[in-house]
Amino acid sequence: MKSGSQLFNGIDIGGQQLMNRIVLPPLTRSRATDDGMPTPLMEEYYRQRAGAGLVISEGTVITPQASAYARVPGLYSAEQVAAWRPVVRAAHHEGAVVYAQLWHVGRQSHSSVQPDALPPLAPSPVRITGYQYRSATGRIPYETPRELTVAEIAGIVEAYGTAARNAISAGFDGIELHAANGYLIDQFLNDGSNHRTDNYGGSIANRTRFLHEVIQEIARHLPMERIGVRLSPSSDWMDAHDSDKLTLYSTVIRQLNGLNLAYLHLVEPEIAGSTTVDRPADSIPTEKLAALFDGVVIVTGGHDQASAERLLADGTADLVGFGRLFIANPDLPHRFRTQAPLEPLRLSGIYGGGPEGYTDYPSLATSNT
Ligand SMILES: Cc1cc2nc3c(=O)[nH]c(=O)nc-3n(C[C@H](O)[C@H](O)[C@H](O)COP(=O)(O)O)c2cc1C
Repeated sequence: MKSGSQLFNGIDIGGQQLMNRIVLPPLTRSRATDDGMPTPLMEEYYRQRAGAGLVISEGTVITPQASAYARVPGLYSAEQVAAWRPVVRAAHHEGAVVYAQLWHVGRQSHSSVQPDALPPLAPSPVRITGYQYRSATGRIPYETPRELTVAEIAGIVEAYGTAARNAISAGFDGIELHAANGYLIDQFLNDGSNHRTDNYGGSIANRTRFLHEVIQEIARHLPMERIGVRLSPSSDWMDAHDSDKLTLYSTVIRQLNGLNLAYLHLVEPEIAGSTTVDRPADSIPTEKLAALFDGVVIVTGGHDQASAERLLADGTADLVGFGRLFIANPDLPHRFRTQAPLEPLRLSGIYGGGPEGYTDYPSLATSNT
């Protein structure tokens, strides 16, 4: 370990001690079954990456309608809960704290993967035009989603609560709410995708209502201090456009203060999907947003060991996530600690398939201690 390293200092989150500041961020890898059941292969994958202080599951859908892609796991059935248990146990085996990321994609879905082939659901019937849907047979245009009724919104809020309860039953220590990357909650937040004229649209207070209803519903099933929220304030990936992102996300973060959440997880804008892009010229400095939050802050996106140490040293972040580095280096904490060389990422097998590109990356160590 380099002198002055903070990555290996412990930290308390939600009353649990983390063994380091290294986070496995949520990474969709599409290795569940077609009906959203975690698999023994996933168990192996998480066991390999269990040296992180905090392990966050891949995006896990709260209902069948919440999904956009094949082989994404769910947390809406008793069978899924049972299938998650060995996976969560494997993720725990080196002492990591393990959270489930709860996901609803909203308009990023497609009728070809929706139950009954119906259009996807969203705050407003606003189609994604800047991107294409990654279907089983190639890229195709996104569809115009159907606007959710108020009763349907209430149903989705309830489904988040049920999925959270299921996550705890499966052995997860807490929940990360996916409110980033232009998915359903982010679609409510941004005025580019939310044109509603009822209590869920218009003012920022109204556009944040759905997020808060979901948090409050989840908090019926587990303590607030076990709920984290992920935001991507400077990203316009998947047409996540807003007329004033600085005001929007500053307000969101200030609203989260005082809830006693486990953490705020900020995504840096240098990534679009799984590709590195230039930071948009008008992006909001991460340190500015992080400073608004009065609890634990995780920052993820484009970081390596050196830049992560800088974020910890200057107080921007309390923990740092490493997505693509962790895909290619299952024993990443060990490699950081020993200054070992890093394996490059292979794009083949990044989404779907079998062990290739998933569990076949080499580990230098059997233990990260
Ligand atoms: C293959 C892949 C799958 C991802 N899946 C998710 C996901 O399910 N949920 C999510 O919030 N972010 C997801 N992300 C974003 C990552 O969590 C992370 O923010 C991003 O990879 C940037 O970090 P990095 O530069 O360290 O890779 C994914 C990224 C990649 C590369």
